Amino acid sequence: MTEAIRFEDKVVIVTGAGGGLGRAHALAFARHGARVVVNDLGGSKAGEGASGTAAQQVVDEIVQAGGTAVANTDSVTDGEKIVQQAMDTFGRVDVVVNNAGILRDKTFHKMDDADWDLVYRVHVEGAYKVTRAAWTHLREQAYGRVIFTASTSGIYGNFGQSNYGMAKLGLYGLTRTLALEGRKQNILINAIAPTGGTRMTEGLIPPQVFEQLKPELVSPLVVYLASAQCQDTGGLYEVGGGWIGKVRWERSLGVGFDPRAGFEAEDVAAQWSRIGDFTDAAHPADNIEALREMMANLQKYAG
Ligand SMILES: NC(=O)c1ccc[n+]([C@@H]2O[C@H](COP(=O)([O-])OP(=O)(O)OC[C@H]3O[C@@H](n4cnc5c(N)ncnc54)[C@H](O)[C@@H]3O)[C@@H](O)[C@H]2O)c1
Repeated sequence: MTEAIRFEDKVVIVTGAGGGLGRAHALAFARHGARVVVNDLGGSKAGEGASGTAAQQVVDEIVQAGGTAVANTDSVTDGEKIVQQAMDTFGRVDVVVNNAGILRDKTFHKMDDADWDLVYRVHVEGAYKVTRAAWTHLREQAYGRVIFTASTSGIYGNFGQSNYGMAKLGLYGLTRTLALEGRKQNILINAIAPTGGTRMTEGLIPPQVFEQLKPELVSPLVVYLASAQCQDTGGLYEVGGGWIGKVRWERSLGVGFDPRAGFEAEDVAAQWSRIGDFTDAAHPADNIEALREMMANLQKYAG
């Protein structure tokens, strides 16, 4: 039988946990024995306003079910305050689930600086601030798990979501490098691209499907990625509706030109179909693997 996943000695921060996916994660962590910092600014879907009730309601739910949690109403852009509250209340932090998010959808020709900046600030700067403040503690205790919330809108693109897509795929870039930097101290970092029926997706997903895409169906993956049992790092997982899959980069075998002789745009055009041919494609897992073909090409034509 699979070993039970428990968090009795662990403190988990879930940002944006006053509703939607974050609430489901917070409740799931509490059920698994974690002490939970339920953070939520309590603003609108577009990131306007603030209210303390969303976070407190989820804390009340956890406490009523016999769990342990504390509410925090700071913005993730003041991430150090959220981590400080974890330290003040529970004396440690082990897991950070970066989940807080907003939407300011607009086609690019209508995008203004305010919509671009606010989406960047909440998703990217917010995740940076919370994780950076926790990082010091995670390193000191040589243990940590961090989850970033990306999106299929970042991986694949989505009409009207240039700001959001930029921010969401940016978090995967952050995941890849922190996975390298954290590994030695047993700090493992993964990203999820979830789909769930929440206020963020209400009206965008047909009602019948919306009902079925319960936020709780995303949380088991998040809890597993945050557990001591999980030893994987740097991954990106699509999750929703009871389904989970892993995403990786794929690259064509490519075409090598003679770097000494030089080559022209016409040579690129002549090889275009081969450049984009994914037969026997490679899946570079790191920078060294990624640069291997280029180095081999240099060597092939070296004096
Ligand atoms: N629902 C989906 O299908 C879906 C798809 C892809 C990605 N996501 C991502 O999942 C995460 C959760 O989204 P959701 O669907 O549950 O939406 P949601 O609106 O229900 O939850 C987001 C929560 O974040 C909080 N929040 C916003 N700005 C904050 C700030 N500055 N500081 C602290 N809290 C803040 C909000 O108050 C809200 O409770 C987001 O990062 C979102 O981009 C969701």
